Amino acid sequence: MSIKPLIILPDPVLRQVSKPVERVDASLRKLTGDMLETMYDAPGIGLAAIQIGEPLRMLVIDLAKEDETPTPHVFINPEILESSDQRSVYEEGCLSIPDYYAEVERPAAVRVKYLDRDGKLQEIEAEGLMATCLQHEIDHLNGVLFIDHISKLKRDMVVKKFKKLAKDKMSGNKAPGRLVG
Ligand code: NI
Repeated sequence: MSIKPLIILPDPVLRQVSKPVERVDASLRKLTGDMLETMYDAPGIGLAAIQIGEPLRMLVIDLAKEDETPTPHVFINPEILESSDQRSVYEEGCLSIPDYYAEVERPAAVRVKYLDRDGKLQEIEAEGLMATCLQHEIDHLNGVLFIDHISKLKRDMVVKKFKKLAKDKMSGNKAPGRLVG
């Protein structure tokens, strides 16, 4: 397992629509391990494959708090079957949009079918943070970011800020991580 670099806004890769996983095999399980390790390192509670540059419909979630035993969940080809009429609001953030948080309203509960890490068909009825997290990550598989759910004014401001950050980074003299002896 290894930690992969995260794709950051405004990288157009984040807008790609990911393709369904065709086979759950050893290389896919390795990718799952890399995703979990990258997520824990960040640290974050959810990560979609596209965030490390793999346009595949899979995501990982672990809602355990720092002092709790890790409970990794792997969702392959997840599909929302049903969403509640009742809605809830959470303050969301995203590993691809570091240090930016905004309140997002979504259905409070969802029923999702998916394949687990053994390729077995499963179904989950999620509510609370798990429901929000699943919807946030499934959005990633469709090239949708949580800032698409906030006002255009706020979104434009965030995108502008990240475009500037990317530009500043590009024009820097030293490549990050390079040893200059
Ligand atoms: Ni995200």
